[in-house]
Amino acid sequence: MTAAQNLTDPAKILLQVRGLNKNFGGLQAITDVNLDLPSGVITTLVGPNGAGKTTLFNMITGHLVPSSGTVHWLGESLNGIAPWRIARKGIARTFQDLRLFNHMTVQENIETVMERSSWLWQRRSVAMKQKIEQVLDETELASKRHERAVDLAYAERKFLSLARIMAGDATLWLLDEPASGLDPRSFDRFVALLKSYAQRGVTICIIEHNLDIVIRLSDTVAFLDQGKLLAQGSSEDILKDPHLAAIYFGDR
Ligand SMILES: Nc1ncnc2c1ncn2[C@@H]1O[C@H](COP(=O)(O)OP(=O)(O)O)[C@@H](O)[C@H]1O
Ligand SMILES: [Mg+2]
Repeated sequence: MTAAQNLTDPAKILLQVRGLNKNFGGLQAITDVNLDLPSGVITTLVGPNGAGKTTLFNMITGHLVPSSGTVHWLGESLNGIAPWRIARKGIARTFQDLRLFNHMTVQENIETVMERSSWLWQRRSVAMKQKIEQVLDETELASKRHERAVDLAYAERKFLSLARIMAGDATLWLLDEPASGLDPRSFDRFVALLKSYAQRGVTICIIEHNLDIVIRLSDTVAFLDQGKLLAQGSSEDILKDPHLAAIYFGDR
């Protein structure tokens, strides 16, 4: 099945968000959001700063409790489940502030993820080593494996954050601005990497501001503004909408 076919097939929905709301005191950060993430599809979440994108991720991953509404993963409600349990179910994420283990090496940062992933736990040595080498290669971090995360360049830190997800066995990746601040050469590697994992069956939801990346990567784009999901469609449809463009570029 292709991503385009899965996009319209209700049987392929892995994660389903329905009627989700979040208030912080008087601030309504998320209002009645519905979103489906189908298997193998790359969904991009776009919208101005403060739109509620990270808050939406935080509710999916259990880092925040919704004020109301539901999140279902493979038909099972995630409401009230701790973040680490949700991660074990196959939902991995990155954070805007990366949250690397700064004083561990690149390789150790990757290994900490693998020790928690079940399929490698039994047969650590061979499979784990192979996977580490593959991920180090794919992220071009092999020559830096013994450097501490804190000593890496910014782009390398972003790729290490991605490497930690690639090394696990999650089926859904939630990526919070993973490409922000990358240089153009890194953009190409980044896009190629995500596409190749999507082709291998990983489902990806990515928060992204760079419209060139949005166009190259997205099977579908969801547009969030002031906590509301205003529109969802192809990148072409979303980006050519003058109303959305005015919101996005701050020309209300
Ligand atoms: N823990 C929190 N407590 C209070 N307000 C928050 C919290 N997290 C986010 N917000 C607010 O909710 C709104 C959405 O934030 P966020 O989800 O981080 O937006 P985005 O990721 O789209 O930039 C913002 O107004 C932000 O200040
Ligand atoms: Mg954010």
